Amino acid sequence: MSVAHGIRTLGVLGAGQMGLGIAFVSALRAKVPVLLHDRSADQVTKGLALMDKLLAKDVAKGRITSDLAKDARDRVTVVNELRGMRDVDMVVEAVSESLPLKQSIFASFAKELRPDAILASNTSSISITKIAAAAVPADVSAASDAGKASAGRVVGLHFFNPVPVMKLVELISALQTTPETLDRARAFAVACGKEVTTSKDVPGFVSNALLMPFINEAIMCLEKGTATRDDIDTTLKLGMNHPMGPLQLADFIGLDTCLAIQQTLYEGTRDSKYRPSVLLERMVDAQWYGRKNGKGFYEYT
Ligand code: CAA
Repeated sequence: MSVAHGIRTLGVLGAGQMGLGIAFVSALRAKVPVLLHDRSADQVTKGLALMDKLLAKDVAKGRITSDLAKDARDRVTVVNELRGMRDVDMVVEAVSESLPLKQSIFASFAKELRPDAILASNTSSISITKIAAAAVPADVSAASDAGKASAGRVVGLHFFNPVPVMKLVELISALQTTPETLDRARAFAVACGKEVTTSKDVPGFVSNALLMPFINEAIMCLEKGTATRDDIDTTLKLGMNHPMGPLQLADFIGLDTCLAIQQTLYEGTRDSKYRPSVLLERMVDAQWYGRKNGKGFYEYT
C-alpha cells in the first residue's frame, strides 16, 4: 500500500547545487510549496537564476508548458531566517559535509520547527544516527519518549547531482528513525519522480562506500603515473560506458566534498582501503575544488 507523504510545505536549507536541485524537483514534480533558506544571499540569487534557466529549458524543449514552469517557480519562496520555516511539514538540509555544522543545524530545527516535522539530511556520508541525536533538545533524555520522538523524525534523503537529471534517491534510516518517517520520506522522494534505494547507516552508505574508493583509486593511478588524466577518464568512459571519467566526476562532485566523504569513510571504518590519496589532499589544500571554483583535474571557464 502506498503511503501519502503529507508534505504540504517543504523547507530546504542550503541553496547550493544540491539544495537548489531539491527545491526544483519538489516544486516542479511533487508540486509542493518550498521555503528556501541559505545564509548567503548571493548563493540564493545564483540558485534562483539556475532554476529559471532550467525551467526555461524545459519549456523550450516542450517538456512542460510555460504555465507549469510559472507555477513551479511561484511555489519557491526565499526565507531570510530559519524561523521562517517554522510551519513546514518537512525540511531537507543540504549544506556542506561537516558533522558539527549539521549537528548545530538539527539542534536548531528541533528548537525552531514544529515537533512533528520530518527532518531530512541530504548528507552523502555522515551518520544519520549522529545527526538524529543532535535533534534531541539538551534538556531532554534521548531515551525518553520525547527524546525518541524528536530523533525518530530524522532521516537520510540522499539526492544525486544534478538532482533534476539523476533518477535516484538513497534513503537512510538512523537507529532512531521511526517507520512512519521512513515511509513518508520515501513517498516524498517518489513524488519528486525518483527511484528509491535504501541503505543502512554505515559510513558513505551504499553509494559512496562504492563510488569513493573508485574515484580515489583513479586519483592514485594519476599520482603514480599509471596513465595520464585523459587516458584514465577515457578508459572508463569508452571502456565501461561511464558518462564521465572518475577524475571528471570528482571535479563535478567537488574535490573538497570528495575529500570530506573519504575522511568520513576512513575515520568511520578505520579501514586503510578508504584512506584519501595525498594528491587529493594537496589539491584541496591548494583550494582547487573542481568545477565549482574553476580548477580541479581540469580547468573550467
Ligand atoms: N543541473 C541540471 N541539469 C543539468 C546539469 C545541472 N548541473 N548538468 C547537465 N544537466 C542536464 C542538461 O541540461 C541536459 O538536459 P536536457 O536533456 O534537458 O538537455 C542533460 O543534463 C544532459 O546534459 P548534457 O547533454 O550537457 O551533457 P551529458 O549528456 O554529458 O550529461 C550529466 C551530463 C547528466 C551530468 C552526465 O555527464 C552524467 O550523468 N554524469 C555523471 C553524474 C553522476 O554520476 N552524478 C552523481 C555524482 S555522486 C553524487 O551526486 C552524490 C554524492 O554523494 C557524491
